[in-house]
Amino acid sequence: ARRYDFYGRHQAGITTPAQDRLHFAAFDMSADASRDDLAALLADWTEAAARMTQGLEVGESGAVGGSPYAPPEDTGEALGLPASGLTLTFGFGPTLFETADGVDRFGIADRRPPALEPLPRFTGDALVPEKSGGDLCVQACADDPQVAVHAIRNLSRIAFGRASLRWSQLGFGRTSSTSTSQTTPRNLFGFKDGTANIKAEEPDAVAEHVWVSADDGPGWLAGGSYLVARRIRMIIESWDRVQLAEQEDLVGRTKGEGGPMSGGGEFTELDLTATTPDGAPAIADDAHVRLAHPDVNGGIRLLRRGYNFVDGNDELGRLDAGLFFLSFQRDPARFVAVQRSLARDGLNEYLRHVGSAVFAVPPGVQAGASIGDGLLG
Ligand code: HEM
Repeated sequence: ARRYDFYGRHQAGITTPAQDRLHFAAFDMSADASRDDLAALLADWTEAAARMTQGLEVGESGAVGGSPYAPPEDTGEALGLPASGLTLTFGFGPTLFETADGVDRFGIADRRPPALEPLPRFTGDALVPEKSGGDLCVQACADDPQVAVHAIRNLSRIAFGRASLRWSQLGFGRTSSTSTSQTTPRNLFGFKDGTANIKAEEPDAVAEHVWVSADDGPGWLAGGSYLVARRIRMIIESWDRVQLAEQEDLVGRTKGEGGPMSGGGEFTELDLTATTPDGAPAIADDAHVRLAHPDVNGGIRLLRRGYNFVDGNDELGRLDAGLFFLSFQRDPARFVAVQRSLARDGLNEYLRHVGSAVFAVPPGVQAGASIGDGLLG
């Protein structure tokens, strides 16, 4: 079973090979929480995360080692399970620094990275406020769903009285690969997803596109990143009535192998200038991969790390399913640029963005330090 260090220069769960399962949670600080409460919460979360990611129970006495007359420190459902590749990645939302009506609850408004502001409205957004935003986030990824859920449950329990869950999202299958050691998985449209993603084995691309540098500022965020989360509902029932050739044109890649419509295998470069025998662009003008490609976005690349979700069905008997899109980038403006380019995406007819959030992801910490030290210290 895989086990990843919690401590390090960068937080785990970003370039870590994408695990199979996700439980993502956004939290809001309690109305009466103080700056000390925030610092104590982040310290307690750090300590619990360092243990859980190593396959250990929360607290010294764990699930069953404490007093029979007290609630156990650990909730117990991961007893006997290995670390399962668990990573816990923490982020700070814009509202942590300053509420929508301008209140600086924790005395950190002047530390807000200028780039960290709520995402603008995009064409076709159908956002639900209850599935958007949040003061804090925790991304739990693991190869066992029980391990990911155990982590979020225990972090929520630790937060009791200081912060509470605003929304959370389970993901059951990764929709990207972040390492060349992984095969490319498929999203719920049935297409390989993650082929052209940034991979951990490309250190120059990771440095250029993912990590905030000391020059970017603010200093406390150097070695960190920005996380964008979008809950994208897929209108699966309509998609499933679309002809195969049309599906491939909308994506710009073949469904079987995932090669570009301009020809070649999965990892062949796109040829955006190629044409079909009758003179049409081989990769359609409104194809997703064309509009998302770095060549039409000033060289921008995103590290995508999303998951498939199915949350039952709606009242019309349609699956409430889609892609919980997660991307890490050096500046949220980079996501905004690509998402704006996708305004013309042919896939949009089958998509609806219902949740949205952005977070500053602090750098990693060394043993003994807390994830909030750089921000609050
Ligand atoms: C590529 C599907 C949303 C950015 C791809 C590929 C597929 C795909 C099948 C080709 C394989 C690959 O290179 O990974 C989807 C679906 C989406 C979605 C089904 C919604 C449910 C988004 C969003 C963004 C995005 C919201 C960013 C704003 C990209 C990028 C690429 C890509 C940057 C690589 C393009 C390239 O360099 O060739 N997507 N995607 N995607 N997608 Fe998406």
